[in-house]
Amino acid sequence: MAGELSPIDKAKFVAAKRAAQFVEDGMRVGLGTGSTAAWLVRCLGEMVRDDGLRIKGVPTSTRTAQLAREVGIEVISLDEAKWLDLTIDGADEFDGELNLIKGGGGALLQEKIVATASDQMVVIADIGKEVETLGAFPLPVEVIPFGWQTTQALVEETLISMDVLGRTSTLRMNGDIPFVTDEGNYILDLHLNRIGNARQLSLVMNQMPGVVENGLFIDICDAVVIGYGDGRVEVRDINEGTVDRDRLDFVETDNLFSDLSD
Ligand code: 5RP
Repeated sequence: MAGELSPIDKAKFVAAKRAAQFVEDGMRVGLGTGSTAAWLVRCLGEMVRDDGLRIKGVPTSTRTAQLAREVGIEVISLDEAKWLDLTIDGADEFDGELNLIKGGGGALLQEKIVATASDQMVVIADIGKEVETLGAFPLPVEVIPFGWQTTQALVEETLISMDVLGRTSTLRMNGDIPFVTDEGNYILDLHLNRIGNARQLSLVMNQMPGVVENGLFIDICDAVVIGYGDGRVEVRDINEGTVDRDRLDFVETDNLFSDLSD
């Protein structure tokens, strides 16, 4: 089955596999959402089954909760955990300071709450997610459904005074109807092309009535594990200022590769 995986999927897999080494017995671990995070959940499930790893997982979406249970990870709520040792999650973009755009999968609100409630956040990504300046990926902004068009107009008006290149936004759709998040909200995708001052934009967005949260993760991520299609992985730790390089064997196991639905 490995032969059917694209180089990007292989890169996501090796990043997840390497990041799983951060997880220690007894930890409370935030489990991200998306295709890269799904690899991590499968890797952790394998470690639980085969190596007797004991962890409690706090999922960041109903999708991840379902997968975690399927692979045998004990799932608890954030309120039960109260605080987490580590969160591992994917990203849509990361820059040199490990600031992120997240929310491509629509789970940014729970992802930000969980990551912020963690001693450490590690991002797992293929090398294609690295950017010099954030903003090519449309910035997801979660808004409440009430008056969402008014909120959208306010957001676009506010962007006029922001250091961005584009100022249009679109309501995320799920077929013919608006995409609805786990919290019952809508998502506006902001087509900014380039974000000159991500910190300022994040603060301003979150001050608007109707906006619940935005997908900029500023000063939250501690390390990124970058995967390459040929099995190379790079771990960049922003606090230590270190870069570790490694290569993982791409070994297929029935457990990990039997369900590639995510
Ligand atoms: C979900 C996210 C994901 O982490 C992000 O979209 C990356 O997804 P993938 O690993 O599938 O590329 O933020 O809300």
